[in-house]
Amino acid sequence: MSLQLSMLNRIADMVLAYVPSVSDDWLNKIHVGDSRAVLKSMPDNIVDLSFWSPPYFVGKEYEAHLTFQDWQNLICDVIKEHTRVMKEGAFMVINIADILCFVDPNMPRYMANNVSNKKSPVTREDVLKAKIKHPKASRHELASILGCSEQTIQRRSEHNNVRGGKGTAGTRVLLVGGMLQDWAKEAGLYLYDHRIWHKDPCWANSRWHSNSYRAVDEFEHLYIFWKPGIVDVDRERLGRAEWAEWGSRGVWNIRSVQRNNRHECEFPEMLADRVIRLLTDKGDVVLDPFVGSGTTTAVARKLKRKYIGIERLKKYAQLAEARTNVEAD
Ligand SMILES: C[S@@+](CC[C@H](N)C(=O)[O-])C[C@H]1O[C@@H](n2cnc3c(N)ncnc32)[C@H](O)[C@@H]1O
Repeated sequence: MSLQLSMLNRIADMVLAYVPSVSDDWLNKIHVGDSRAVLKSMPDNIVDLSFWSPPYFVGKEYEAHLTFQDWQNLICDVIKEHTRVMKEGAFMVINIADILCFVDPNMPRYMANNVSNKKSPVTREDVLKAKIKHPKASRHELASILGCSEQTIQRRSEHNNVRGGKGTAGTRVLLVGGMLQDWAKEAGLYLYDHRIWHKDPCWANSRWHSNSYRAVDEFEHLYIFWKPGIVDVDRERLGRAEWAEWGSRGVWNIRSVQRNNRHECEFPEMLADRVIRLLTDKGDVVLDPFVGSGTTTAVARKLKRKYIGIERLKKYAQLAEARTNVEAD
């Protein structure tokens, strides 16, 4: 009788081992859809690490439909959904530039008098003197009297040379880390650590840069949030040299992706490789709810982790799927 019972138990175990669990439907797939909706239907407590880079609200094609309020709602809601799908002790790592720059019609325009760029030697005093001497002269006449352009007359008279977001509004510069921290805390996730990704200088901003004292963009942030629970700390995850070189270091020097023909905002594989190897073990589940070209999922698979990718645009979801499958084989 007891023999029969133990046989039955063994058969039951074998059957259970072959029954796919709910979470299996989710694993090793790229899901197409809005990450808020997809996350809502995901089972509880299945994610060991979520690593993502959201839209930055800097005017890229894939975020052009969002207002600033929409953008805030999106990031806040995605963070909120994480609390449920993450396992206890799991991490959520958000890669984002810390400064958002966007045109804000409600703020004053930045004004710059670009002294070293003045090509005409005509000064404001010259213009004011000419106006006193020729009180009825038009801007056009003043320009020909002083031998300069009408624009120079206008600039010197009005005392400024206005630049900023596209001439009609100011370019708002806003720190984003505090917002993420507040949204995460509200959702029950706590800031655990912070790293800087030092990338290639982004000279695409050089017009704004050359007419101001602002630095070029050359670093981004990795905000690491923790869901309360036990964290397994395993110093064997990295070699001794790796701990010294980057595992224990706050600044990671990693070249940016040089081409952007695949996706306009890919992050480098090395960034995903470091985050995944530092914070997970083989077999763990890695989520990217803004998977884009599939960098996180491709690297996760290469490192023998399970993965879940989410992407709103079908063309990127297909790209991520193909890249994850091809590169991991
Ligand atoms: C900064 S990119 C991510 C790039 C990715 N890390 C890579 O290496 O390719 C952000 C991605 O999020 C996608 N996205 C934007 N809004 C989304 C949403 N609501 N749900 C899911 N994906 C979204 C965009 O289409 C874009 O591909």
